[in-house]
Amino acid sequence: MKVPINSPLISQLISYPKLDIYEYHNRMIDLYKIGVKDAILEGPTKVCELNILGKGHSGIVLKVNAFSKKTMALKIRRVDSRRMDSLTEVFNHKLANLVGIGPQIIDNTNDLILMELITGKGIYEWLQDPTTFHLLTSTNIINIVNQILEQCYRLDVLHLDHGELTRIDNHVMVSENNHISIIDFESASTKRKPCNVTSATQALLLSGGSISRKICKFINLKDPDLLLNCLKKYKKIKNRQNFENVISLLNGKS
Ligand SMILES: Nc1ncnc2c1ncn2[C@@H]1O[C@H](COP(=O)(O)OP(=O)(O)OP(=O)(O)O)[C@@H](O)[C@H]1O
Ligand SMILES: [Mg+2]
Repeated sequence: MKVPINSPLISQLISYPKLDIYEYHNRMIDLYKIGVKDAILEGPTKVCELNILGKGHSGIVLKVNAFSKKTMALKIRRVDSRRMDSLTEVFNHKLANLVGIGPQIIDNTNDLILMELITGKGIYEWLQDPTTFHLLTSTNIINIVNQILEQCYRLDVLHLDHGELTRIDNHVMVSENNHISIIDFESASTKRKPCNVTSATQALLLSGGSISRKICKFINLKDPDLLLNCLKKYKKIKNRQNFENVISLLNGKS
């Protein structure tokens, strides 16, 4: 369902979880500035009985049409977010975009991030989905894990720590063409030691959580201790060789 962005039906999504008239008006002005015309109420998450792309602790994500008529994703800072504005997130997200990572940011204001729409599912959902069950092969899963770790390596080289890759399920999306996107740079920082490769490897292969258990059904990790040692070595010296030693341990199950 498509509604104009100023429709009262979605006012509580623009200022979520409470309609604050001052915030709402400011955001309306900003939405016009960045050319967002309509909201398309579609997506896997239901908020206030409406379907949207997603909801997290800091934002509401809506599918929208901008003046160009293109469909995009709009992240709106929640009024109860612990962040005062979205500007640090935008700075770090744009940095990631420079090396081809994350949905491309199209425009932003203090509280809004207009970005490329990722048509896909969160990795957890992708691994569970019966309609894409046929895609769960060793080759595909190794390819997905490789893509995630390659992108993490690029972030490590950039010295940008994503900060939430231990919660990989919420932060990696898999598109229909099996491409992966790392999302949500809200907790990212250039001031911390980057640990993207180590956090993602732990979450994907070593943590024993639901995602790593599922992945390890398809990837033959002959020696988890060897992987841990390689990770330790990589943590000390983050160079390409040490990174390749990590990914060389991912072999398919026959
Ligand atoms: N560019 C996008 N395209 C499609 N869906 C998206 C996009 N960005 C975010 N989403 C969806 O919206 C959800 C929430 O986004 P995001 O993780 O950025 O919000 P958050 O409030 O920072 O969440 P968290 O509490 O996990 O930190 C994501 O899990 C994802 O499902
Ligand atoms: Mg977040």
